[in-house]
Formats: sequence, structure tokens, C-alpha cells
Amino acid sequence: MGKNNILNCTVEKNKEYIIKIENSGHQGEGVGKIDNFTVFVEGALKDETVKIKLIKINKNYGVGKLIEVLSSSESRTEPVCSTYKRCGGCNLQHSTYEAQLSFKTERVRDVIKRIGKLEDVKIHNTIGMENPYNYRNKVQLPVGKNKDGEVVVGFYAPRSHDIINMECCYIQDEVGDKVIKVVKEWIKKFNIETYDEKTNSGIVRHIMIRKGFKTEEVMVVVVTNGNSIPYSEELVSMLKDNIEGIDSIIQNINNKQTNVILGQKCKTLYGKDTITDFIGEFKFNISPLSFFQVNSIQTEVLYNKALEYADLQGDEIVFDAYCGTGTISLFLSQNAKKVYGVEIIPQAIQNAIKNAEENNVTNTEFIVGEAENEIPKLIEKGIKADVVVVDPPRKGCEESLLHSIAKMSPKKIVYVSCDPATLARDLNILQQLGYKTLEIQPVDMFPQTAHVETVVKLEKAKLVNL
Ligand SMILES: C[S@@+](CC[C@H](N)C(=O)[O-])C[C@H]1O[C@@H](n2cnc3c(N)ncnc32)[C@H](O)[C@@H]1O
Repeated sequence: MGKNNILNCTVEKNKEYIIKIENSGHQGEGVGKIDNFTVFVEGALKDETVKIKLIKINKNYGVGKLIEVLSSSESRTEPVCSTYKRCGGCNLQHSTYEAQLSFKTERVRDVIKRIGKLEDVKIHNTIGMENPYNYRNKVQLPVGKNKDGEVVVGFYAPRSHDIINMECCYIQDEVGDKVIKVVKEWIKKFNIETYDEKTNSGIVRHIMIRKGFKTEEVMVVVVTNGNSIPYSEELVSMLKDNIEGIDSIIQNINNKQTNVILGQKCKTLYGKDTITDFIGEFKFNISPLSFFQVNSIQTEVLYNKALEYADLQGDEIVFDAYCGTGTISLFLSQNAKKVYGVEIIPQAIQNAIKNAEENNVTNTEFIVGEAENEIPKLIEKGIKADVVVVDPPRKGCEESLLHSIAKMSPKKIVYVSCDPATLARDLNILQQLGYKTLEIQPVDMFPQTAHVETVVKLEKAKLVNL
């Protein structure tokens, strides 16, 4: 029992092994081998020798639990956070920031070669942050009680719904720690019931904190099960008395037994209904429900790179497929004749229209629908883009959209991606459709985690010397 004869080697579940870590997996985990059998080890780094316990055996690979690092990599560092090992918020804090950035660049290089099968592409080093901590402008944390009945607020442990209580989170803005402390005190002082997802009972479900990084405006959102919130005036006073600069305190009501954090209804308990922030010169109103990129500093870096790669001269028609709330469209509108944004979520398009109006931008038009359906409709109407920007979700672009774009024959395509593997797949398709990938710039939007965001510049092949 528990033994597996795989690839001519015998591995045994729950047995300890000493292995050499030869590579990094997509999530930054170490990858090594027991004979020929591949094992993934969270928390282990390339070039380390580690003792592991083999906790899972699948057909083609296993999962090892790190027991001890026997010889450590130069990239290993002490995590700043005391709950790091138990919390599911970050997964690269045990690696120096320099090594995190190299890991991200290598991840992009690897998929571009292996999946994209592209050669002669300039892949730049990942643009990191000067301070790779306290960068999140939004945090939303579950509230509950532990088995001793104490109030806990924190991220869920990996692959579970156990809340890991925290006093301080190093990736969120520091105001978040202060808000959480006050909310915990309020819950204890007035014996407020916390939500129990198993029974769908109790009151306080989540706390969300948003901050405008340029404006310093702070919004606190208390998500409740049910319309009433006892001692709400006391909560408002406690937050205002203890934390400087709170501009908005909101109750969000979510009565559903669901993993979705926010409900659709909001009540303002104090101050404004929205806070504002800027990306570049553009001002955005942010409500509890609005989508807004969580790393304000790097978003500006990413969008400026997209604008640079689009290389607009002022007379171009631009399509921004997957435009969300139109933030990239607004950036592009500065140097274009007209930008058409397409997005599947109607509320995001409403926000995009409002954002354009409030910034006095008159050369944008936003369309609700699937990019793969709406862009061919625009082309049928005789509207053709000189430059196309795509920023799809993790699964990448629909292949039919790539075909429609190529058929329209724009001079340039700028691809913004949050998943290097689907990006590489799509760049390969675009290469076959006559678009050459010239430059790739990874940007670190989520330090201390394995996420990689990338901007890519492509040009129509006949315009470059092949
Ligand atoms: C990575 S986000 C990009 C958002 C935006 N460009 C930004 O920077 O804030 C991807 C967006 O694509 C939208 N989306 C998903 N599938 C879509 C489709 N088939 N057609 C159009 N938009 C889609 C999602 O709702 C989401 O807003």
C-alpha cells in the first residue's frame, strides 16, 4: 500500500527522501527527482538539497513536504512575515527579491521557447518595485472565530477555509493593519457575531480596505450577512478616533451562502460613497464594487509600457479588447485618433464610459460584448484598427479573435498578459498569422507571489526585416 512503481522507480507515500532541487515550477515551488520521479516541493529553491516527506503520489509526479533544507541556495532569505508559512497570501517570501524577479523573467523565457517556439525575441528583465512590500491598494479578509472562540481576521491557509489570524500583512498598505485591529476590538467589545459559512449564520463576513495611493483616501467596507449591523455608530467612532484619514465607511450586504465576497447592496455609514485615485493623469472613482488594479505603482509602469509599444502617432484607430473599466483605453486615447474598448461585463463598460466622461476624454467608445464577436462586427461596419491592444483573462484570447485581428491587418498588436503560458500559445498562433513578436517586458505587479504580468510588442511581419 502507498507504493508506486512509476518509470521504473519505487516511491513510497509518507516516506522521507533527500533530493536535489533542479528547477522551479510555475508557482515558484522547487522541482526535484527521486530517481526518475518528479517531485514538487513548496518552499524549496533551485540548487538546494532538501529533506522531504512524500505526501502525494500522482501518475506523473509527486508532492513533497519540506522537512529541512540541508544545503541552502544563495537566494534564500528569512521571510519578514511571521505567519508566512501558514498563510496563503504570499508564496515567494523565502526568496530574495532579486531572485523573485529572475524567476519571473526565466518563467517567461521558458514558455516563450517551449510553448511559443519563438526565436529572436528580446525578453527584458522583469521590472520590479523599489519597495516590494505594502504595495496592495486593496485587501479583503475573512472574519471568523477560531476553535477557542477568539476573533480571527486574515488570509485563508492554502487550499483551505481556515483563517490564519494576522496582526500585520506586509503586502497590503499599512493602514489595513490598523483597521483590522480596530474592527477586532469592536467585535470583542460589543460581542458582535462573526459569520459562519457552514451554517450561513452570524453577521460580519469580511473586511475590505481600499486606499488611493496618490490621494491617500481610505475606504473601509464591512461585509455583513443581513441588513442590520449592531453598534455601527460605535464602529464608525472607533475607526475615526484611531485611524487618521478615513474618508468612507461602508456596509456591504451579502446574504448569500457563497464564496463571492461582496453582495450588490452598499450602505454608506460614514463619509463618501467612493474614494478617488489616479493612474498617470487620469482620475478614477472607486466604489466597493469597482474593479481597480491592486498595485497602483506598477499599473502605471505596465500601462506606460503598453503605450510605448503601441507607438501611436495621433492619427490611429485603436481597438482595446478586454478593456475592463477602460483604464488602458484612456491611456491610449492620449495619443490616438479614436479608441474602441470592448468588454464582456456591462457594469465595467458603464464605469469605463463614466471614467472617460470624468476625465473629459471624448475620443473613446465602449462596447459591451465578447471581443471575439464585437471586433468582427466593428470590422464589418468598415471600422478598422491600426493598432490592437489585448489584455485577456488568464485563459488568453479566443483563437477566432486572433484570426479576426490578423485578417484586419493592423500595423501593431500589443498583448498584455497575466498568464505567460497562454500568452506563449497565442504568440505562436499570431506568428503563424503573420505577426512577429519583437519585445517582451515582464512587470512585477505582485511581489512576494509567483504571478507574472507581461507586455508584448508585435508587428506585422512584412514591416520588419525577417
Ligand atoms: C485582465 S482583465 C483586463 C482589464 C483591463 N484591461 C485593465 O487593465 O484593467 C480582462 C478583462 O476581460 C474581460 N473579458 C473576459 N472574457 C471576455 C471576452 N470574451 N470578451 C471581452 N471581454 C472579456 C473580463 O471581464 C476582464 O475585465
